[in-house]
Amino acid sequence: MSELQLTILKTLDSQGPIANTLETFPNKTSQEVQAALNSLLARQKITYKNIDKEQWNLTQEGQDIVSNGSHEYRLLETVLKLEHLKISEVGNVLGPAGKMGQGKAFKNGWISKNGDELIINDKLDKSNLPNDETALELKQLQDQGTLSDSKKLADLKKRKLATVSKIQSFSVEKGPEFSLEIEKLETDITSDMIINGSWENAKFKPYNFNSEGVSPDSGALHPLMKVREEFRQIFFSLGFSEMPSNQYVETGFWNFDTLFVPQQHPARDLQDTFYIKDPLVAGEPEDKKYLQNIKAVHEGDAFDSIGYRYPWNIEESLKLVLRTHSTAISSKILHDLAANPGPARLFSIDRVFRNEAVDATHLAEFHQVEGVLADYDLTLGDLIGFMEDFFSKMGVTNLKFKPTYNPYTEPSMEIFSWHEGLGKWVEIGNSGMFRPEMLEPMGLPKNLRVLGWGLSLERPTMIKYGVSNIRELLGHKVSLDFIETNPAARLDEDI
Ligand code: PHE
Repeated sequence: MSELQLTILKTLDSQGPIANTLETFPNKTSQEVQAALNSLLARQKITYKNIDKEQWNLTQEGQDIVSNGSHEYRLLETVLKLEHLKISEVGNVLGPAGKMGQGKAFKNGWISKNGDELIINDKLDKSNLPNDETALELKQLQDQGTLSDSKKLADLKKRKLATVSKIQSFSVEKGPEFSLEIEKLETDITSDMIINGSWENAKFKPYNFNSEGVSPDSGALHPLMKVREEFRQIFFSLGFSEMPSNQYVETGFWNFDTLFVPQQHPARDLQDTFYIKDPLVAGEPEDKKYLQNIKAVHEGDAFDSIGYRYPWNIEESLKLVLRTHSTAISSKILHDLAANPGPARLFSIDRVFRNEAVDATHLAEFHQVEGVLADYDLTLGDLIGFMEDFFSKMGVTNLKFKPTYNPYTEPSMEIFSWHEGLGKWVEIGNSGMFRPEMLEPMGLPKNLRVLGWGLSLERPTMIKYGVSNIRELLGHKVSLDFIETNPAARLDEDI
């Protein structure tokens, strides 16, 4: 039992009920007193009631008005004395307070304007001047601690002439189990108590139904994973199936060569791509025929293409890289599709890596959302139409397309959407029709056309969750609280 608890019990015992704890224990804070009371209450030693009191204090300005009169009254007195006062002089004669009083003095009908001068309003009876109500009210508040008119109190507060604070105290009486000592209460019934019979006389601590439960610790989905789930649902609703994407390390073969990216392409430079040191290279791909086809299509005069006309090097192709785009996955799955060609709708959403300068919106790794659609005789019109369908599912309806270049697609288009907030067109994705140089070496039939598109997962997530610096979304600066408490995303709605 704390000292304060004992003092409370002793006071009740020797002096009877405590009318106001603030008066009896002036040195204790109301929080300390309440904690002691709650603990005694739980044991039914006491009962108590809250007595909240408001305490009003005058601000500096309020006190000044009590001593010198309100601004409006001082203005009235000055104009009375001087008979007229240039409006431009008010500040000089009375200080900033005079300007403040001017509006109020007009409103009260004390003064009026004559050209650029203030004069006494002719409706004012000079022989029977009004009272300075504001000063009188403040004086009364200072003397009596309150005013009976709550509207006037609120007005003084609004004018910042007085402030109010709540003072919490309590009245205390003996409870049904009052005594001077506190026996330890049992919180649980144990098997020992049942065996030795002590449960019969034991005193149990009552349940506190007012205490709040501790919210259980649990895992939380990262915002990127929530937005990924939204994209997944969009793809599923359009009949797409998910490609396996759980492999960060790829060969240059799948990441570049199968996509008709020549071996001297700048994207393959160390500055752009992370290469694995150990092991440096992978074994050869199983499909030897395909390997030969890739060599042939790069070197030229195969699959109706002049190729790039350079000696293709298998060593370069077997180097291990952190995949730079999810199109490496699409390429593998399309190669599998060649075994049993036909229409297909496929997607993946996973992490890719690029050796890039890191800034507020770029990290060296990010997530790509990628879709691939294969069907007979597809055209660019199908791609545009499909992009409109896909993005409208996210609530993005105003699209523009701009020609661009990808080694593996022709034609290729960047996709822009109108951003209301920024008031400009922003790039939201990249797309294109996969080239015959990519599809035919796989063994896919000539008229099975494949269109693809990709976008980042980070950009829509940052927009959705109002994050402007990517370091707040990924990495050591992320606030765990933000991760644990952010709501689920709906791409077609504001969260
Ligand atoms: N791979 C492209 C990128 O990284 C996206 C893309 C995918 C483009 C499929 C066309 C077809 O931006």
